[in-house]
Amino acid sequence: MPDKFEPKIIGFLCNWCAYAGGDVAGVIRAQYPPNMRPIRVMCSGMVHPDLVVEALKMGADGVIIMGCHIGQCHYQDGNSKAMARVEVVRVVLEDMGIEPERFAIVWVSSAEGKRFAKVITDFTDQIKTLGPNPLRKDFELNFKRV
Ligand code: FES
Repeated sequence: MPDKFEPKIIGFLCNWCAYAGGDVAGVIRAQYPPNMRPIRVMCSGMVHPDLVVEALKMGADGVIIMGCHIGQCHYQDGNSKAMARVEVVRVVLEDMGIEPERFAIVWVSSAEGKRFAKVITDFTDQIKTLGPNPLRKDFELNFKRV
């Protein structure tokens, strides 16, 4: 009998908002699944679409970008630029045969620990429903904890 599917999710977290929101989630002991591997970036606008596509090509089951709420980006409009790229990323994923629902972009402030936990819980559930990335069988991504 196969093991229960535990998705591997890459999270690109803005240093100023979402990453801090994750810290708050820890402080308030909010519960959320351990499937997301965080990558801290200075702004959601710094996450080039190639990084999202590459992570999925390498076998990640889902990718989520988390940044500051619109109007609160520390670099003025990085999050708006990230948002503007979403549709392009989804089209590229569809062309590759990957469900666009494996990618999400969400805004979480540094004070929203509970929201952080809910976003990660909901996205993990969404990826579990989708099942393993169809490209995963071609390349098994090895996550290492540091
Ligand atoms: S600084 Fe957080 S999204 Fe730009």
